[in-house]
Formats: sequence, structure tokens, C-alpha cells
Amino acid sequence: MNAIPPPLGIVCELTHRCPLQCPYCSNPLELARAGAELGTDAWLRVLDEAAALGVLHIHFSGGEPTVRKDLPDLVRRASANGLYTNLITAGVLLDAAAIDRLKAAGIDHIQLSFQDVLPESADQIAGLAGAHERKLSVAKAIRQAGLPLTLNFVVHRHNAERVPEMLALAESLGAARTEIAHVQYYGWGLVNRAALLPSRAQLEFTLQVVQEARARLAEKMVIDYVVPDYYAQRPKACMGGWGRREMVITPTGKAMPCHAADSLPGFEFPSVTDTPLADIWSNAPAFRRFRGTDWMPEPCRSCDRREIDWGGCRCQAFAMTGDAARTDPACALSPDHALMLAVAEGRPEAAPAFVYRRIGHAPASVSMEPVPAEATV
Ligand code: SF4
Ligand code: FES
Repeated sequence: MNAIPPPLGIVCELTHRCPLQCPYCSNPLELARAGAELGTDAWLRVLDEAAALGVLHIHFSGGEPTVRKDLPDLVRRASANGLYTNLITAGVLLDAAAIDRLKAAGIDHIQLSFQDVLPESADQIAGLAGAHERKLSVAKAIRQAGLPLTLNFVVHRHNAERVPEMLALAESLGAARTEIAHVQYYGWGLVNRAALLPSRAQLEFTLQVVQEARARLAEKMVIDYVVPDYYAQRPKACMGGWGRREMVITPTGKAMPCHAADSLPGFEFPSVTDTPLADIWSNAPAFRRFRGTDWMPEPCRSCDRREIDWGGCRCQAFAMTGDAARTDPACALSPDHALMLAVAEGRPEAAPAFVYRRIGHAPASVSMEPVPAEATV
């Protein structure tokens, strides 16, 4: 294989610890405990190797990355190495002083997540009383510090009606960018799919609102919109293509091509503790397995979108069909597309209760079948 360009970005999942318990968290069901996390020196070496490799962006993520006391040190090193630094945070542990420390360390951008615009609903989804109020004051403090702010709203059946208010809140807080992102059904989101999947009418409503807001706010705010695959005709280019643009490093140091790759059986993901980043990116079999188009089956192999969406999401293909090498069932051309349609059609009228994300509380198994309406409460 020819030398491949370096990854554009690396998602450093510093920890799985988090004061929130969102039922759509993209973290794996088996969450790493604090004692298993990489130490400061290991992360600093990763940041040096990332810069040497030619990476441009570092996303400090989690769990909640601000639980790590060494976060300013990591930001400082990344910044000194010329890396663009983005903090992906739920915000509830931040205050003006902490934001100032991060700014002094060189943070370039902060992405703050919101669960809703109604405090009681937001706190119920987050599983933490008072979280929403805290986020509002943190958003203001981020802007007062002069840092660019992106707001991220995760959308599902319980809050889709309030996308107009979400965009209004983002505008009033001075966000330069807002993500209206429907839940992606991996990790805890897959466990809670029946409790979260919106109806087609809700999806269409959110799309219309976003289109109108994009036209109205074009000069003011960029709006990103992420659809749920269950109503799609074509899949997304998950992570920009497997092993093509992004790398994810887990709290324990495992390097993976995406957040959910650990769910795929038969893969060995190398550790940054014993393998140089450059070697992982170029040579690790796990990164090469679905890179490019050679691995593709039909209909992807002869499809004119094969270098646009790269066959969609490998983890979704595995979750739905048991085979990560099949065309993503989100694609209407996939022989397995009926599986997606069945889930959307089997969406229960009444949403079951959330299974909250908690360390040490992984559900025993995840059913990929549509939940029959009579099984819901
Ligand atoms: Fe993408 Fe494959 Fe579907 Fe073509 S057939 S649109 S490459 S997933
Ligand atoms: Fe793993 Fe899409 S989440 S390839």
C-alpha cells in the first residue's frame, strides 16, 4: 500500500468518567475505570508523536475530559506542538477560572453539549439535577473568555420538537457553530434505541427547521445537521472512512479507527503504550482492514459513491448483520436495508425507560431486533 496521509485529527478519550449518564453516550458499554487510564506522561508522548506524524487537530474528549486534573498540561503540550486543540465537554465541572486556565494553556475551541432547552428535561436526560443551569453559565463564561464556542444538541424522540428553541438558544449564547445531531445508535445509544428513535415526522420537522435556520442565520452561525441512519437512503462516511482521516485513542491507550470499533470481534487494536503512533496508523492490520475500497463487497465495489461514503459504517454493519464487512444497511442499495426499515417501522408508540450510562453497569446483551410495541411500557 502506498504511504497514506497522516490522520487529520485524533480523538483523545482521556477518561470514561463523567458526572452525566446520558443514555445515548457513544462510549462502549464496558467503561474503563480511573485506575486503568493512561497517565500524564503517556498522553504527553502521544501528543508529541501526533505532531511529528503531521496530525492537525486534537479533540480532548471522554467521558468528561475535565475530570482529568492534567487537562491544562495536555492542552499546553498540544498547543506548543502546533496542534489545533478542541475540548469536547459537558461543561458541568467548568467555571470561569478553569476556562481561563485552559485558555492560558492554549485551548483553541470548546464544544459544549446540551441535552435540551427545558431544564427539567435536560437534567432528566443527563441524569444530573442542575446540569442545564450550570451549562448555561459555562457557555457564557466561554464566550466572555473570548473562545470560539460550538453547541452540540443531541436530538431524539423526547426533544425533537424543540429544535427551534435549541437554535434560538445557540444564537443568543453567541455560538459560532451549532450541531443538531440526531442520536447515533452505537454504544449506549444502541441499548436505548427504542427509547430514543424519533418518528419520521419528527425527523422531517427537524430537517425543515434546520434548513430554514441555515438560510436565516447564514452570516451568523454554521449549523451542522446529523440524521439518524434509520431513515436514510445512503449512509454517512463514518469517521470520513475507516482509517482514512481520524484516529480514536481510548482512556486505556487503545488506538482505534472509530469510537465503536471495540464492538467488532476478531480485531486487535494496538496500544499507544507500546507501538508508535506512526506505525499504528500506517501498518496496524486493524487500521488497514477496511481502509480504501479493496475490501468492499458488491454493491459498494462498483458503486459511484464508494469514495464518498466509503461503504458507510462498519460498526453499524456488524451490529445489524453480524458481519462488519457488509455494506452498511443504512444504504438503500444494501441487501440488508430491510433490517433498518424494520427497526424504524417497529418503533414503539410509547418509549421504554432509559438505561442510563454508568461505569460497571453494562447491560448483559443488546438486542438488534426491533422492539415489539407490546413489549414497551
Ligand atoms: Fe455507499 Fe456502498 Fe451504498 Fe454505494 S452501495 S451508496 S458505496 S454504501
Ligand atoms: Fe465504527 Fe462507524 S462507528 S465505523
